[in-house]
Amino acid sequence: MSSGGPQRPTDRTVRVEVPGQPYEVRIGSGLLSQLGEFLNSLGLARPGSHAFIAYDSRLPDATVAAARQSVESAGLRVSSAFVVADEASKSISALEALLVRLAQSRHERREPLIALGGGIVGDLAGFAAAIYRRGVPVIQCPTTLLSMVDASVGGKTGINFAIGPGESDFLKNLIGAFHQPALVLADVSTVASLPDRQFRSGIAECIKHGLLSADFGDPDLLGWTTSHMETIVARDAATLIELIHRNVAVKAAVVKGDERELSPAGGRALLNLGHSFGHAIETLPGLDLLHGEAVALGLMAATTCSAAMNRCPKALPDEVKAVLTKAGLPTQLQGLPPDDQLLARMAHDKKVEGGSLRLILPLGTGRSMVVRDPSAAQIQVGWAAIRA
Ligand SMILES: NC(=O)c1ccc[n+]([C@@H]2O[C@H](COP(=O)([O-])OP(=O)(O)OC[C@H]3O[C@@H](n4cnc5c(N)ncnc54)[C@H](O)[C@@H]3O)[C@@H](O)[C@H]2O)c1
Repeated sequence: MSSGGPQRPTDRTVRVEVPGQPYEVRIGSGLLSQLGEFLNSLGLARPGSHAFIAYDSRLPDATVAAARQSVESAGLRVSSAFVVADEASKSISALEALLVRLAQSRHERREPLIALGGGIVGDLAGFAAAIYRRGVPVIQCPTTLLSMVDASVGGKTGINFAIGPGESDFLKNLIGAFHQPALVLADVSTVASLPDRQFRSGIAECIKHGLLSADFGDPDLLGWTTSHMETIVARDAATLIELIHRNVAVKAAVVKGDERELSPAGGRALLNLGHSFGHAIETLPGLDLLHGEAVALGLMAATTCSAAMNRCPKALPDEVKAVLTKAGLPTQLQGLPPDDQLLARMAHDKKVEGGSLRLILPLGTGRSMVVRDPSAAQIQVGWAAIRA
């Protein structure tokens, strides 16, 4: 579906070519105040119809109001509900509460659900949109850097699920659906209110993309990101638009080739670079890591493994460390549990992923590859690299 929609010279567009429902990611500053026009151009603003906005409770009132007013100006009746964005909100009970609100507002089958927030709101509202009345159109309006460059694009939605009382029984993203958005509107002005740590966390996913982007049309993404880090961290709007544009283009190219993560040769699984290590520590109590911080440590560990296995130039770990440090992201950590516990946590992930641990290793010059079932000794080199 083409959004048509308003277009200013500074806006950028990426088309995500998935079978059945291609869609656009529009990147610019101030786009939320044009949301109604975009709905109109998608045929989602029929007279008397309804739109539902699920928004992050920590957003400034002005951000939510900009979206709401724009949709109302397009003639739609608007209902809304806030979501407190923590991992506990990616739950059955929060999903149920949102579905109840949708039904109470008499939201119909072809009416848009707008997800306004970071990855948590996007994953929860996206999943609600996938199952409510067997699927309603979702418009992803990401408000974190991480969700602009990653979570809002590609159609993965879902919630966490506890299968028991233990800490290892809490399984991230266990239940969900592929539900591609009808449109993604990345309004870079919304990140002005994002806490610094959250903003830097998003840069980790950009660095991840830079380590695999050469096979997806952008061989110099890591070099560009490194050389523009000061303006990125300063949240310069033009630099952010280019950063997000380039990262979304890479993600779109990956998703186009492997929408449902089925490719044995890599495909979408490559986007898990840094995540096998990262997931093992992200939810460990006491470490207090954001997703992007865990990914940053995971990138460091994976790159060090790769160098030790002679898969990449020996200098790559130092390069990765330098760019992560420039972004203010961690590369080492105190308080990591012993290796056997970390390996057990990775093995737990392995069971979830179907019996085989896939480690993604950077090869240098913007390429990465999947390695199946590396030995414990090989993985331990990675943990040793990030243990302070
Ligand atoms: N679906 C996917 O493909 C995908 C990909 C990557 C990550 N994810 C998921 O995304 C989630 C993480 O998302 P995230 O990093 O975007 O963070 P988030 O949604 O957890 O938000 C981070 C924090 O920032 C606040 N916030 C969000 N936008 C704000 C703004 N503009 N101003 C002020 N505060 C704001 C939130 O309230 C929250 O406290 C995880 O649950 C992860 O599993 C999904």
